[in-house]
Amino acid sequence: MMRTRPLKVALLGCGVVGSEVARIMTTHADDLAARIGAPVELAGVAVRRPSKVREGIDPALITTDATALVKRGDIDVVIEVIGGIEPARTLITTAFEHGASVVSANKALLAEDGAALHAAAEQHGRDLYYEAAVAGAIPLVRPLRESLAGDKVNRVLGIVNGTTNFILDKMDTSGAGYSEALDEATALGYAEADPTADVEGFDAAAKAAILAGIAFHTRVRIGDVHREGITEVTAADIASARRMGCTVKLLAICERAADGQSVTARVHPAMIPLSHPLASVREAYNAVFVEAEAAGQLMFYGPGAGGAPTASAVLGDLVAVCRNKLNEAPGPGESAYTRLPVSPMGDVVTRYHISLDVADKPGVLAQVATVFAEQGVSIDTVRQKGRQDGGGEASLVVVTHRAPDAALSGTVEALRKLDTVRGVASIMRVEGE
Ligand code: HSE
Repeated sequence: MMRTRPLKVALLGCGVVGSEVARIMTTHADDLAARIGAPVELAGVAVRRPSKVREGIDPALITTDATALVKRGDIDVVIEVIGGIEPARTLITTAFEHGASVVSANKALLAEDGAALHAAAEQHGRDLYYEAAVAGAIPLVRPLRESLAGDKVNRVLGIVNGTTNFILDKMDTSGAGYSEALDEATALGYAEADPTADVEGFDAAAKAAILAGIAFHTRVRIGDVHREGITEVTAADIASARRMGCTVKLLAICERAADGQSVTARVHPAMIPLSHPLASVREAYNAVFVEAEAAGQLMFYGPGAGGAPTASAVLGDLVAVCRNKLNEAPGPGESAYTRLPVSPMGDVVTRYHISLDVADKPGVLAQVATVFAEQGVSIDTVRQKGRQDGGGEASLVVVTHRAPDAALSGTVEALRKLDTVRGVASIMRVEGE
């Protein structure tokens, strides 16, 4: 039976994503109503610039007073696509207090203050859905929260930032340096005028925090995530990766410790073998690999950004939240019962690729090998190439076996103190083997 009284939706933000949400709500109104069991009506749209022409949106719905909109009392669902911490946080909690459930795409806020928001939703008996906050159109939050709720996820490994994947892919395919590839990403509209959030890994770290929390049923905040961006990745690193049969990707990696007593979450560039499925994720696409005890390995792939793909995730949540409203019962909430601590980066165990510039003379290789041995880091391969410039220097590339990050840091510190080591050109982790 279709309910005739419509469910009322307030849209906070009408930029790239919000305008697509409004457009699809209008063009697919009949299908959405049939799937939900009641019509959904756009009841108000809060914007910063009311004079901007917004095609397909009744100007009477536009307001600059987002607070008044969420306080109206007749709003069933608030869609928050303004981003940032404030005023989004206050608007969301105000929405809960005034009877609305919330669909949000706000990764920064959820990664910073998700626990308080989930608690507020629960306290008021509302939903807080946020599929669009992680990897755009790719269904990931609800598969982890619902489909895999009976399994035990041990690892989530993925490419969750399209801008950096575009830049690294460009460097890999064309041999371009970082700046050149960033310029191209900017010219094509992948990178923003200020690319810091993407290239320094903040965006991916927020997503890693959200994914780790859902996957391991615990709380992980963005500050718990070890973060390194891609600004230091050089054309030489990419070439070196190629020689090893690898490529370089900015990875978000969330892992449960072997003893199950803690978790880690990190974002950094890493070499992965060309045979790994994530190596074939090109341009601005995202992909996430989930390893669960019973399910085995699952991979989720698709567009991680953009107006329409992100709107797809928002609308999926809107349908779910509206159904819950009609059933007068909120959907499955957050489960953070494990309360697992987040271990520091030093506890992470992985492999390393280290490039050194060294003096090319007898005994240097032995000296370097001794430093690794003293720190308990076992060497897998060494490649040395003398420079042809007559300067008596050589490039040394060492790939290690698995070792704790703290041991690797100790090794690098000790290597820097050797007179014969002129410089540590790069250190990169090797993942996915
Ligand atoms: N800027 C992000 C990216 C999309 O490049 O993937 C929004 O999270």
